Amino acid sequence: MSQSASSFEFSLAGRKLAARSGILALMDDMGRALTLDPQMRMLGGGNPAVVPGLQALVRERMAELVADAGGFERMMVSYDPPQGNPRFLRALAELLRRTYGWDIGPQNLAITCGGQSAFFFLFNLLAGRFDGGRRKKILLPLAPEYIGYADQGLEPDFFVACRPAIEWPQGREGNVFKYTIDFAAVERALARGNIGAIAASRPTNPTGNVLTDAEVARLSALAAAHDIPLILDNAYGAPFPGLMFTPAKPFWAPHVILALSLSKLGLPGTRTGIVIAPEPVAMAITSLTAVVGLANGTIGQQIVLPWVESGKILELGPKILRPFYAEKAAAAAGWAREFLDAAGVDWALHAHEGAFFHWLWLKNLRIPTLELYERLKARKVLTVPGEHFFFGLEEDWPHRHECLRLNFSREAEVVREGYRLIAEEAAKAAR
Ligand SMILES: Cc1ncc(COP(=O)(O)O)c(C=O)c1O
Repeated sequence: MSQSASSFEFSLAGRKLAARSGILALMDDMGRALTLDPQMRMLGGGNPAVVPGLQALVRERMAELVADAGGFERMMVSYDPPQGNPRFLRALAELLRRTYGWDIGPQNLAITCGGQSAFFFLFNLLAGRFDGGRRKKILLPLAPEYIGYADQGLEPDFFVACRPAIEWPQGREGNVFKYTIDFAAVERALARGNIGAIAASRPTNPTGNVLTDAEVARLSALAAAHDIPLILDNAYGAPFPGLMFTPAKPFWAPHVILALSLSKLGLPGTRTGIVIAPEPVAMAITSLTAVVGLANGTIGQQIVLPWVESGKILELGPKILRPFYAEKAAAAAGWAREFLDAAGVDWALHAHEGAFFHWLWLKNLRIPTLELYERLKARKVLTVPGEHFFFGLEEDWPHRHECLRLNFSREAEVVREGYRLIAEEAAKAAR
């Protein structure tokens, strides 16, 4: 019997992964905006800016690689082992040992095709279905959390998330708020006994929040007490790219899994993720890489190799990226205040402690931000509605419909006009 392509049946896992997920819609809108619609003001997506000082270094290094006949051929024509390039792994383990005193070696590292793949592997290794019909979930101690995790579970109902406490560091009039972990909620979730790992991004995408050293130490202690790993997603954080504007120590412990990436350093096109983990986890990631993709991209590792060997990679954030993004953040915060105040909107921004997003809380909207997002898209401003970031929360919370994530890393005119139009549309949609 002949079957049309549209009637092929997908497996349960296939159906779940191939559904139109939030991350797919986001990447689609962003990709279209960047390629097909030059008029669109792109405040959505997680693309880093073209940071001139950093791109100059990358170009210089590329020229060096292209000129080095043996090196260039090795980079382009050879598969690396699935764990990653052995010289890169040695250099990175050595850098982390000598800089932070972490007791790790190359056996604790695994390269992946971007941090995104690292999380798909880690989450599905540590949560889902287990022997004897047991099920485990990933605990997100603070929602909102990174949209890219939301659809990664091979099983439904994969995450449990905790609503945060809200603080006003400059008093209520300051228009600046900060989420902090509600540890009573975290302990209640852990007490259910079905958590496979605790996971948090630091800095957090979407909010730019940086969990404090005390919060991380407490999460680490809770994870250790429950004999589960703590996964820290440092895609924007320490040791690199170091996009943090508040003091925060890089954290590692034997039961901690760190995920790093070269993307926010300015190299998302190379798709390079790095997992630092207990050896059995690093080896499991290596096996998954072999099964799913044989090996990883070589180019990112080769570009940054000398910077890892010399330690220069740790200086790029503080010296080049931070001043660049700090200026962007300050200009955008100024426009937020100017336009939202003038429009009479009741607003607040999350404290900008890291990454390159503003998390805008619009407190008196008549419509959910999903609807505001559509209205803004019609006015050629692309944002990300807050609803996508609250997955895993068991109760509804009106706050989840009141926030927008804004990437302020593009050209000043684009961001300024984008913030102006957001204020205009937020005022029209106000109660
Ligand atoms: C918090 C966080 N983690 C992980 C990633 C994945 O990045 P990549 O796959 O480019 O390394 C991103 C990308 O935006 C992110 O924001």
